[in-house]
Amino acid sequence: MKIMVCGKGGSGKTVLSILMAKALLEKFKVYIIDSDESNTLLPIFLGVNPPKPLIEYVGGKREEEDFERMEPDIVKALSTARKGIKLGLLPSEYMATSKDGIGLITIGKVKEYGEGCACPFNVLTRILLGNLSLERDEVVLIDTDAGVEHIGRKIEEVSDGILTVIDPTAESIEIALTLREVAEKLGKRFWAIANKVTDNIRDLLIEAAASMGLNIDGLVRFDRELYISCLRREPLKAGNALLDVEKIVKEKILPAIVRG
Ligand SMILES: Nc1ncnc2c1ncn2[C@@H]1O[C@H](COP(=O)(O)OP(=O)(O)O)[C@@H](O)[C@H]1O
Ligand SMILES: [Mg+2]
Repeated sequence: MKIMVCGKGGSGKTVLSILMAKALLEKFKVYIIDSDESNTLLPIFLGVNPPKPLIEYVGGKREEEDFERMEPDIVKALSTARKGIKLGLLPSEYMATSKDGIGLITIGKVKEYGEGCACPFNVLTRILLGNLSLERDEVVLIDTDAGVEHIGRKIEEVSDGILTVIDPTAESIEIALTLREVAEKLGKRFWAIANKVTDNIRDLLIEAAASMGLNIDGLVRFDRELYISCLRREPLKAGNALLDVEKIVKEKILPAIVRG
């Protein structure tokens, strides 16, 4: 199962990708694909050294059209199995593994002023996801860039579901509605998870979402310990937020994965 973790910038996509990975580990081999071309904190939050970006494995950044044309060669270069790409068999420098066993693959980061747009990264993400050969006990979480750029790149097409993270704002709910529309159009699974929820806004948020036509599948509390570990740029320490994510995974996500 390949789940895209999407939503507004700062809503908690990266944090929830890691917490969901932890919650899924008991039953699955879990990989996170970092497809956000700008933020660099995921490896730190996961407690690993950054892996080499996958874009380097396929010869570095090139024009988007060249990349599209090269798809068969890229698939061939990345494929170790007879049928498609197996993440677990990628050369070790392109995969970092956390102490608890979560695999991290990074697509690439924009580093230099004027180096061009991030489109090639999106193309590579689509090629990778579209040609993955996954076992039944493997789950891939794609930590996406902020907003809805990935919709324009049609990355959703090659995933199985969209999980949208909502911080308690109307903007966030708007993005969730756009993503739900895409999920419905493509026949993909869809979850809306509210994050950074505090007692004093909990009901207001649920009501606001409902009035905009959005049902919230789960709530993750604002977790002070987690917030502090992020601010200090340390491996994530989560208390209540992890408990909430574990509950959501157990009740909403696991059944979908099991059904396939
Ligand atoms: N449940 C939470 N409790 C407290 N702070 C959170 C929580 N989730 C996210 N944060 C805060 O929000 C910031 C942005 O989260 P992040 O996952 O990087 O967002 P995104 O990937 O969507 O841009 C984190 O650095 C942290 O400070
Ligand atoms: Mg992020």
